[in-house]
Amino acid sequence: MISLVDDRKLIGELNKILTLEHGHLGMYENYPDYKDKDIRRTFRRFMEIEIEHINKLKNTIRNLGGKPFAIVEGGNIIGRMLGITIQVSDIKNTLGSYSLIEKKSFEGYSKFVLDLEEDAEKRNQFIAEIAVSNMLEADLMHLWLKDKLKTMR
Ligand SMILES: [Fe+2]
Repeated sequence: MISLVDDRKLIGELNKILTLEHGHLGMYENYPDYKDKDIRRTFRRFMEIEIEHINKLKNTIRNLGGKPFAIVEGGNIIGRMLGITIQVSDIKNTLGSYSLIEKKSFEGYSKFVLDLEEDAEKRNQFIAEIAVSNMLEADLMHLWLKDKLKTMR
Protein backbone atom coordinates (compact mmCIF):
# COMPACT_ATOMS: atom_id res chain seq x y z
CA MET A 1 0.00 0.00 0.00
CA ILE A 2 1.20 3.48 -0.82
CA SER A 3 1.28 5.89 2.08
CA LEU A 4 -0.72 8.84 0.81
CA VAL A 5 0.20 10.99 3.81
CA ASP A 6 3.26 12.12 1.86
CA ASP A 7 2.22 15.01 -0.42
CA ARG A 8 4.57 14.10 -3.26
CA LYS A 9 3.35 10.50 -3.32
CA LEU A 10 -0.25 11.63 -3.32
CA ILE A 11 0.38 14.11 -6.15
CA GLY A 12 2.26 11.40 -8.07
CA GLU A 13 -0.66 9.01 -7.68
CA LEU A 14 -3.15 11.68 -8.79
CA ASN A 15 -1.03 12.40 -11.88
CA LYS A 16 -1.00 8.70 -12.74
CA ILE A 17 -4.80 8.69 -12.54
CA LEU A 18 -4.91 11.91 -14.59
CA THR A 19 -2.89 10.18 -17.31
CA LEU A 20 -5.41 7.33 -17.46
CA GLU A 21 -8.27 9.83 -17.62
CA HIS A 22 -6.61 11.44 -20.64
CA GLY A 23 -6.64 7.97 -22.18
CA HIS A 24 -10.37 7.66 -21.45
CA LEU A 25 -11.03 11.00 -23.11
CA GLY A 26 -9.27 9.67 -26.21
CA MET A 27 -11.72 6.77 -26.36
CA TYR A 28 -14.80 8.95 -26.68
CA GLU A 29 -13.74 12.15 -28.42
CA ASN A 30 -14.18 10.66 -31.89
CA TYR A 31 -17.89 10.10 -31.12
CA PRO A 32 -19.14 11.61 -34.44
CA ASP A 33 -17.45 8.75 -36.36
CA TYR A 34 -19.83 6.06 -35.11
CA LYS A 35 -22.70 4.82 -37.27
CA ASP A 36 -24.96 3.96 -34.32
CA LYS A 37 -26.83 7.09 -33.15
CA ASP A 38 -27.19 5.78 -29.60
CA ILE A 39 -23.41 5.28 -29.40
CA ARG A 40 -22.76 8.75 -30.86
CA ARG A 41 -24.99 10.43 -28.26
CA THR A 42 -23.73 8.38 -25.35
CA PHE A 43 -20.04 8.72 -26.25
CA ARG A 44 -20.49 12.47 -26.57
CA ARG A 45 -21.75 12.63 -22.99
CA PHE A 46 -19.02 10.19 -21.86
CA MET A 47 -16.47 12.54 -23.41
CA GLU A 48 -17.91 15.40 -21.33
CA ILE A 49 -17.75 13.26 -18.20
CA GLU A 50 -14.07 12.43 -18.88
CA ILE A 51 -13.34 16.15 -19.25
CA GLU A 52 -14.98 16.67 -15.86
CA HIS A 53 -12.84 13.88 -14.37
CA ILE A 54 -9.69 15.49 -15.79
CA ASN A 55 -10.61 18.93 -14.48
CA LYS A 56 -11.45 17.64 -10.99
CA LEU A 57 -8.08 15.86 -10.81
CA LYS A 58 -6.18 18.89 -12.11
CA ASN A 59 -7.84 21.16 -9.55
CA THR A 60 -7.10 18.71 -6.74
CA ILE A 61 -3.43 18.46 -7.76
CA ARG A 62 -3.14 22.26 -7.93
CA ASN A 63 -4.85 22.67 -4.56
CA LEU A 64 -2.22 20.34 -3.09
CA GLY A 65 0.48 22.61 -4.51
CA GLY A 66 1.36 20.22 -7.33
CA LYS A 67 1.58 20.52 -11.10
CA PRO A 68 -0.77 18.38 -13.22
CA PHE A 69 0.86 16.47 -16.08
CA ALA A 70 0.19 13.34 -18.09
CA ILE A 71 2.91 10.82 -17.22
CA VAL A 72 2.79 9.01 -20.57
CA GLU A 73 3.04 11.40 -23.50
CA GLY A 74 1.35 10.88 -26.84
CA GLY A 75 -1.34 8.54 -28.06
CA ASN A 76 -2.34 5.06 -26.99
CA ILE A 77 -1.96 5.87 -23.28
CA ILE A 78 -4.37 3.10 -22.35
CA GLY A 79 -2.60 0.51 -24.45
CA ARG A 80 0.74 1.33 -22.88
CA MET A 81 -0.49 1.58 -19.30
CA LEU A 82 -2.92 -1.33 -19.23
CA GLY A 83 -1.66 -3.54 -22.05
CA ILE A 84 -5.00 -3.50 -23.89
CA THR A 85 -5.17 -3.59 -27.68
CA ILE A 86 -8.11 -1.75 -29.18
CA GLN A 87 -9.40 -2.43 -32.70
CA VAL A 88 -11.68 0.53 -33.31
CA SER A 89 -12.72 -0.85 -36.69
CA ASP A 90 -14.72 -3.57 -34.95
CA ILE A 91 -17.54 -2.06 -32.88
CA LYS A 92 -18.09 -5.11 -30.67
CA ASN A 93 -14.38 -5.28 -29.94
CA THR A 94 -14.40 -1.55 -29.14
CA LEU A 95 -17.35 -1.82 -26.75
CA GLY A 96 -15.78 -4.86 -25.07
CA SER A 97 -12.41 -3.15 -24.66
CA TYR A 98 -13.91 0.10 -23.36
CA SER A 99 -16.12 -1.80 -20.94
CA LEU A 100 -13.03 -3.59 -19.59
CA ILE A 101 -11.09 -0.32 -19.35
CA GLU A 102 -13.89 1.39 -17.37
CA LYS A 103 -14.11 -1.66 -15.11
CA LYS A 104 -10.37 -1.38 -14.45
CA SER A 105 -10.79 2.34 -13.82
CA PHE A 106 -13.54 1.62 -11.28
CA GLU A 107 -11.31 -0.95 -9.56
CA GLY A 108 -8.33 1.41 -9.55
CA TYR A 109 -10.40 4.19 -7.98
CA SER A 110 -11.85 1.78 -5.40
CA LYS A 111 -8.34 0.86 -4.27
CA PHE A 112 -7.26 4.50 -4.21
CA VAL A 113 -10.30 5.45 -2.12
CA LEU A 114 -9.59 2.62 0.34
CA ASP A 115 -5.99 3.81 0.72
CA LEU A 116 -7.19 7.36 1.36
CA GLU A 117 -9.83 6.27 3.84
CA GLU A 118 -7.28 4.30 5.86
CA ASP A 119 -5.70 7.61 6.64
CA ALA A 120 -7.51 9.69 9.24
CA GLU A 121 -6.24 12.99 7.90
CA LYS A 122 -9.14 15.32 6.99
CA ARG A 123 -7.53 16.35 3.72
CA ASN A 124 -7.37 12.74 2.49
CA GLN A 125 -11.01 12.13 3.42
CA PHE A 126 -11.88 15.14 1.30
CA ILE A 127 -9.89 13.83 -1.70
CA ALA A 128 -11.56 10.43 -1.25
CA GLU A 129 -14.95 12.09 -1.80
CA ILE A 130 -13.73 13.63 -5.06
CA ALA A 131 -12.32 10.27 -6.21
CA VAL A 132 -15.57 8.47 -5.33
CA SER A 133 -17.60 10.52 -7.81
CA ASN A 134 -15.15 9.62 -10.63
CA MET A 135 -15.23 6.00 -9.44
CA LEU A 136 -19.03 5.82 -9.61
CA GLU A 137 -19.14 7.31 -13.10
CA ALA A 138 -16.51 4.84 -14.32
CA ASP A 139 -18.74 2.05 -13.00
CA LEU A 140 -21.82 3.51 -14.74
CA MET A 141 -19.94 3.78 -18.04
CA HIS A 142 -18.66 0.23 -17.65
CA LEU A 143 -22.20 -1.06 -17.12
CA TRP A 144 -23.65 0.90 -20.06
CA LEU A 145 -20.93 -0.41 -22.39
CA LYS A 146 -21.43 -3.97 -21.19
CA ASP A 147 -25.19 -3.69 -21.70
CA LYS A 148 -24.86 -2.08 -25.14
CA LEU A 149 -22.51 -4.87 -26.21
CA LYS A 150 -25.23 -7.42 -25.40
CA THR A 151 -27.69 -5.75 -27.78
CA MET A 152 -25.25 -5.53 -30.73
CA ARG A 153 -25.35 -8.09 -33.51
FE1 LIG B 1 -12.92 8.78 -16.29
